[in-house]
Formats: sequence, structure tokens, C-alpha cells
Amino acid sequence: MTDTKLTAPPPAQAPEGPDASGLAALEVLLSRSSNNMLMDPAPDGANLNLILQAASRAPDHGRLTPWRFVVIRGGARQAFTKLLREATLARDPEIPPAALNKIDRLGQTPLIIAIGTDLKDSAFPRSEQELSGAAAAMNILNAVHALGYAGKWVTGGNSHDPAVHAALGFTPPNRVLGFLLIGTARMALPEQDRPVPADYAVEWLGPKETRPLG
Ligand SMILES: Cc1cc2nc3c(=O)[nH]c(=O)nc-3n(C[C@H](O)[C@H](O)[C@H](O)COP(=O)(O)O)c2cc1C
Repeated sequence: MTDTKLTAPPPAQAPEGPDASGLAALEVLLSRSSNNMLMDPAPDGANLNLILQAASRAPDHGRLTPWRFVVIRGGARQAFTKLLREATLARDPEIPPAALNKIDRLGQTPLIIAIGTDLKDSAFPRSEQELSGAAAAMNILNAVHALGYAGKWVTGGNSHDPAVHAALGFTPPNRVLGFLLIGTARMALPEQDRPVPADYAVEWLGPKETRPLG
């Protein structure tokens, strides 16, 4: 039998200061924005693998991997468009043609990743497992941006439609959390104003007592 004696981990050290790679990673987070004006190329091969790997760093209570991704690209996008069109018309036979055109445009996205749940029978509640799926999706969007591509998370009636879920292989209680549209940005979109921490973060001092962050 092999010796499985574990060695103690090195003592935790306070970081000495930001290093270049840490700052570069932060720059990725602080510069990402959504863009659905997309063209080829989309990430594939090793890049797509890296992007999907980023999901594995999402917080996941109990290590359940409670999410599942369905990659839609190439010729399968035509079948995806047909699926969304049929589902949309089944929900609303009177839908204006403009709405169907929007689906056709969505179906031309270079790469679509349907993010959905793969809920596990566990003491950890379904809501936590779904949140882990959302965190995985966010990691994917950040990885897409880090590699120089662009993306956007969209939902809408089709993402909530059980017929669409079933066709993508999500059976209840699992569901689609959203579609990530991915490709190369056709153009940079105007930068949006962003909230700053003072808008959404306070310091808690005790029950019902907070103060703005200094
Ligand atoms: C769960 C979820 C669903 C979304 N669905 C849509 C959508 O259907 N259509 C849309 O234009 N934006 C949708 N958004 C918002 C965009 O993904 C994006 O966050 C928004 O356009 C702001 O851009 P930003 O990411 O650069 O801040 C959704 C976001 C989330 C988190």
C-alpha cells in the first residue's frame, strides 16, 4: 500500500500586495460588459474547453455539480431556431413576425450555451443549487471575455418554456437558467454607467444599524 501521509499545508500568508497577474485578472472582471452584436469566430477547441472549465470554479455547496450545459453551434443552430419558433408560436399563435425575426437573429449567434440545472438529491436546497448554476454562468462569461470574445446572458419566454427545456434535455425539476450568446464582438457597445459600491454596500454595525462604507 502506498504511503498516504499528508504533509501540512504551508501557513497562510497575507498577500504582500497585488501582483501583475492578479491585477490583470481584476481588470478582466472590471472591463466585462455584455454584447450580443456577435460574429464569428466563436471559441472552440482548447479555448471552449477552458471557458467551460471556468465553471468548475463556481461555488458549489456539497460539490454537487448541479448544472449542465448544452452547447449549440454550427448546423444545429437551425434546429434550435426551429425549436424556439415552434415553441413561441405554440405559446402565442398571434405573435408578430418581428418577434420571430428576433428568434432568427438569435439563432445566428456563433455559439449558444444553454445553461441549466442538474439538481441533485441532497440536503442542500434546490435554490442553492440554482445559484451555483448562475455562478457557473458568470464564470463562463468572464472567461469568454478574458479570452477576447464577447457574450450576453439572455432569457425570455423560451427559456421558461417546458417544451424548450425538454428538447434540450432538461427534465423537471431541472430547467434552463438562460442562454449565453457567445462570439466575437462586431463592435464595442457604448459603456454603460455602473453602480459604485456606495450604491449597494453598507457596513453592518448591529441590528438595523448600518453606515455607509468609508
Ligand atoms: C438571468 C438573467 C437574464 C437576462 N435576460 C436578458 C434578456 O432576455 N435580454 C436582455 O437584453 N438582457 C438580459 N439580461 C441582462 C444582460 O445579460 C446584461 O446583463 C445586461 O444587458 C447589462 O449588460 P452588462 O452585463 O454589460 O451590465 C439578463 C441577465 C440575467 C442575469
